[in-house]
Amino acid sequence: MPSAAPAVPRAIQVGLAGLGNVGAGVFKNIEANRDLIIQRTGADIRIRRIIVRDLARPRDVSVPESLLGTRWQDLTEDPEIQVVVELIGGTTTAYELVCAALKAKKIVVTGNKALLAERGQELFALAEQCGAPIYFEAAVAGGIPIIQVLQEGLVGNRILSIHGIINGTCNYILTRMSQAGLSYADALREAQEKGYAEADPTLDVSGWDAAHKAIILASLSYGFWIPQGCVHVEGVDKIDPADFKFAKRLGYTIKLLSVIRADKDGLVEVRTQPTLVPLSHVLASVSGSFNAVLVHGDIVGETLFYGRGAGQDPTSSSVISDLCEAAATLVYGARHSGFVPHGLYGKSKPVEDTISHYYLRLTVADEPGVLAQVAAELGSRGIGISSMIQPEDLEDTSGQSSLVLMIHDARLGDMLEALAAIRALNCVRGEPSWMRVETLQG
Ligand code: HSE
Repeated sequence: MPSAAPAVPRAIQVGLAGLGNVGAGVFKNIEANRDLIIQRTGADIRIRRIIVRDLARPRDVSVPESLLGTRWQDLTEDPEIQVVVELIGGTTTAYELVCAALKAKKIVVTGNKALLAERGQELFALAEQCGAPIYFEAAVAGGIPIIQVLQEGLVGNRILSIHGIINGTCNYILTRMSQAGLSYADALREAQEKGYAEADPTLDVSGWDAAHKAIILASLSYGFWIPQGCVHVEGVDKIDPADFKFAKRLGYTIKLLSVIRADKDGLVEVRTQPTLVPLSHVLASVSGSFNAVLVHGDIVGETLFYGRGAGQDPTSSSVISDLCEAAATLVYGARHSGFVPHGLYGKSKPVEDTISHYYLRLTVADEPGVLAQVAAELGSRGIGISSMIQPEDLEDTSGQSSLVLMIHDARLGDMLEALAAIRALNCVRGEPSWMRVETLQG
């Protein structure tokens, strides 16, 4: 940032695509903090044109009608517009808009994680070629400035690992299921009413919204674009409320956790799954729509970033941060295109080779020898059991019981084989419930 703002603020002309929850927040909050932004950046950020899908739709922000239009090309074709903010979501029109804006040498600000996760590599190459950067602070973890953390604050570190709770909707759902005993459907409905969920909640609850964000964090950390096919993703929609009780008895809670880390050979692991997290760990107390990202750098050690990961004001705070960055670029000079590839890593780890502890709950026949059969299937694949409980007071069954196993470090591929064999045992009833356990030791 500059040391002194120019005496006369320089007007920065912005075209905004999308006036939904976040777009409305951007407009409202720029108006509210205009003077402060001018003092800090030397720039007066003016929204010159706003593109919406439906002009007649009622909005919770008052915008002069003369600003509104429906044709996105009006942003990219207007020579006065210097910055295009893409907040329409999706990967088709948004892609066309971003490409056209870059080709017109306009700075792009986007909160679109799906677009970057899917097409980041080509978009940043285009940005480089056009000499127009893409800023994307709002794409990950709502109001937490985690992109700047990786690009600037921790730039001198090798990133050893990142553990993130980076979907506010899922965290809200899991928190309400755990603390209020709500069903999954009721918790999802509440999250939607509060405006945390994406228009299509499938992206949130399937785990893919968090996975897109994890891809962006991993790519910034390791300098190459992680292919989506190399990411292991599971959602929260299949979690049985009973698992919260069993997990708690064992000293854990369940979070949708994104794990990013490189092994000693430089293979990069990226996954997003419901995961048991120790109750004693700080991530276990990240509740509701809050997000938290734990970054372990080789110089800095552990750092934790916490804040609201979804919602109008927090997410618009990140968009405004990018607009100020764009303004600083326009007022004071050029910066990099937003993503700098580097060659230290470059390979994704096959998900079957990822290793972690596991929680496994089985519904089994209440008869002797069951544990021995299950242990044999695990043991024959080199998988050890670290502890076991049979919590009879937590269930309501007859002739069958729950067997809850905590499993030592195991390769996913071996674990999947063992699970298939265990599922086929006569003494095992129904589908096994299993999740990764993260001890968060690095
Ligand atoms: N729907 C997202 C979440 C917010 O719940 O975290 C934007 O990514």
